Amino acid sequence: MINYTLAFASSLDGFIARYAEDNPFEWTSKNDQDHLKNLINQHEWQVMGRKTHELNPNHARKRIVFSRQFEKVQLIKEDIPNQYYFNPDLNQWHEFEKICSTSVLILGGTKIHDFFLYANLIDKIFITVEPIYFKTGIPAFSYINFHDIIPFFIEKGFSNNQKTVNDKGTVLIELNKI
Ligand SMILES: NC(=O)c1ccc[n+]([C@@H]2O[C@H](COP(=O)([O-])OP(=O)(O)OC[C@H]3O[C@@H](n4cnc5c(N)ncnc54)[C@H](OP(=O)(O)O)[C@@H]3O)[C@@H](O)[C@H]2O)c1
Repeated sequence: MINYTLAFASSLDGFIARYAEDNPFEWTSKNDQDHLKNLINQHEWQVMGRKTHELNPNHARKRIVFSRQFEKVQLIKEDIPNQYYFNPDLNQWHEFEKICSTSVLILGGTKIHDFFLYANLIDKIFITVEPIYFKTGIPAFSYINFHDIIPFFIEKGFSNNQKTVNDKGTVLIELNKI
């Protein structure tokens, strides 16, 4: 059985990026970057949207990248193993699960979060809330107000743990499906 973990960093007002090409490494804390590295090491596969992949390409990582530009599941580049385009509008979920039969880290952006939420596949969520306000930007989910995320998942039966991880006030939230 595949284990799905969603992880993202957010501003205090619920944005995962200030604009489309924003790189979270420019505003996330070292604590979050170390936490993300640990999660990446703990999960064999990553899934993300095409834009997030293109902003942070890494040939060494096993990745499935969502895109509507392709009809069949296919390698992103012929000479790079273990990186595939997947179009959930056309491709079957068993094709996804045949590729990554172990643990999967869900790495954004918004519509990828929406997809896994809607498909009810998420087992664990890590949200790093950095002590900054963006006022505008790319939200964590399309249809859930940021301040409703924790009550929403508690209502769905997730446990909720939070801790402050540095002097600046970065908070790590962990939600686990019980
Ligand atoms: N703070 C964080 O933790 C965090 C995490 C991840 C990303 N980000 C940031 O978020 C921004 C990118 O996020 P984004 O939401 O704009 O874009 P994104 O999700 O990375 O990529 C969007 C693209 O993914 C494909 N896609 C998305 N949902 C799909 C679906 N259901 N079926 C098929 N294809 C699908 C489409 O590709 P096609 O156009 O090819 O069809 C779409 O244009 C960047 O700034 C990135 O750095 C931040």
